[in-house]
Amino acid sequence: MCGIVGAVAQRDVAEILVEGLRRLEYRGYDSAGVAIIDGESLGRTRRLGKVQELADALAETPLVGGTGIAHTRWATHGEPSERNAHPHISQNNIAVVHNGIIENHNELRSMLKEHGYEFLSDTDTEVICHLVHHELKSQETLLAAVQTAVKQLEGAYGTVVIDRRDSSRMIVARSGSPLVVGYGIGENFVASDQLALLPVTRTFAFLEEGDVAEITRTEVNIFDLEGNAVEREAKESEVTHDAGDKGEYRHYMLKEIYEQPQALARTIESRIANQEVLSSAFGDNAEVLLKDIKHVQIIACGTSYHAGMAARYWLEDWAGVSCNVEIASEFRYRKSHLFPNSLLVTISQSGETADTLAALRLAKEMGYKATMTICNAPGSSMVRESDMAYMMKAGTEIGVASTKAFTVQLAGLMMLTAVIGRHNAMSAEMQAQISQSLLSLPAKVEQALSLDNAIAALAEDFADKHHSLFLGRGDQYPIAMEGALKLKEISYIHAEAYASGELKHGPLALIDADMPVIVVAPNNELLEKLHSNVEEVRARGGLMYVFADKQAKFESDNTMKVIPVPHCDDFMAPLIYTIPLQLLSYHVALIKGTDVDQPRNLAKSVTVE
Ligand code: G6P
Repeated sequence: MCGIVGAVAQRDVAEILVEGLRRLEYRGYDSAGVAIIDGESLGRTRRLGKVQELADALAETPLVGGTGIAHTRWATHGEPSERNAHPHISQNNIAVVHNGIIENHNELRSMLKEHGYEFLSDTDTEVICHLVHHELKSQETLLAAVQTAVKQLEGAYGTVVIDRRDSSRMIVARSGSPLVVGYGIGENFVASDQLALLPVTRTFAFLEEGDVAEITRTEVNIFDLEGNAVEREAKESEVTHDAGDKGEYRHYMLKEIYEQPQALARTIESRIANQEVLSSAFGDNAEVLLKDIKHVQIIACGTSYHAGMAARYWLEDWAGVSCNVEIASEFRYRKSHLFPNSLLVTISQSGETADTLAALRLAKEMGYKATMTICNAPGSSMVRESDMAYMMKAGTEIGVASTKAFTVQLAGLMMLTAVIGRHNAMSAEMQAQISQSLLSLPAKVEQALSLDNAIAALAEDFADKHHSLFLGRGDQYPIAMEGALKLKEISYIHAEAYASGELKHGPLALIDADMPVIVVAPNNELLEKLHSNVEEVRARGGLMYVFADKQAKFESDNTMKVIPVPHCDDFMAPLIYTIPLQLLSYHVALIKGTDVDQPRNLAKSVTVE
């Protein structure tokens, strides 16, 4: 979703801004633009399409100057077009980029039109630049004008404002959409994600809700919504490697699939000792806060929601506490019951998903005993606003379709099951088994990755298909859901997932030779039931692809291709069966020639409703 980069420097910043936008491309966007102050003039270039088109335009007609802002837009108000692309400019003086949605834009637009402002785009953002321009008539400084303007905005914003008449500063404001200030030497920056600025600095301060900051080359002054000066601690970035590089891989998604053994090892290894998961994995106060938990409410979106669905089986089966899992956008708009001693867990790769964050805030108001986030982004809103945080060490995930974040989330949730279980009915023996299973995960995932070539060959069968059905039972049902989501996200093949016991209640009607059925079949206590489901599909002329444990007694024939998956225990099975499904979607997308890392219409991080 939209990306922001801004800079105040002595050197020309066009290249820094464009490189920053490139690094944010993975978030999803439809147009890009940049505005730079050059002496007395304000130059702007915008393009529909990829950042490369903007870079080409700038190569032809460069914009010079040390103060500038840049943006990748993901359309919300107004179609994707050059006219609607940011930056927006008021009266040739004030230029603005904005992430988020201004909900009262209609009222503000009417008011500003009465004051003579002409609107040239269909965006909500354009009200911000005219409003700041309007406020400058009565305010003495750009800072004061932005402070007064943002008080009139309803909705979500991360915004950066520059004024042609004063190239020494930019004013940034944050409410809802994340912004991070990057500190350089004699130059300073702002971006919606630190990844954008890694080539120029590694020192960052995250702005908090309501913050407005004035950034010059040598100073960063931050104020809260009331206008009081505040400190936001600047820290060295914890991003250990520069994720902006695909290395030997053709796509980020493939790289990230292959990074899973290391990501899991990094996340798990230091958090298990003496056959026990350490509660400190969830923060220093976790031992106390998790002690009396009897109910867990999990909230998430997309892939993270599927991880939560799997955890429900574990928390109820093994830890002996009740658990509900809900999609954030549903939870936040209904009245839900608060059970005594409830823990609220948000799962989020980015820590900034608008609906999940709103659900966390609602849960705090409702009086949950404690809140926890399982998150991959240090310093994100969810990490800062939760009582406890389990930091995934998956490393930055660039591919829009989440892969390594999912398996690392599953590992975190398995660890949570062990810790909550310890405070409830879980035996020391089961805790030891879980610990052992977690520690052997990286090697098992490595084995599962060796299925890559076999799956690439299988993918050919899917290239001309329009629909598919994924089946699983128990904690493999969410894995089937995740497999279906991956396939639809990147290959655009319609994919549905069903708990296989539900086959008779509808989906059997869809079965024919054009509807491939993908089955996940580990060797667990539900195997016999699954065998019956497979026979139901076979009897209707369906074509099946069964990912099965070697001991699960499935054999290939003319109605079924069996792909043997390395044998694994029940605890790790959901994680291991995820791997072939990720690879399947990747190879099908390759054959179909889609944009694997940036599938159409989707965004990596959904920071608006
Ligand atoms: C978007 C992404 C998904 C992700 C979901 C939730 O839809 O494309 O990959 O699963 O948001 O994101 P989060 O950062 O909260 O896990």
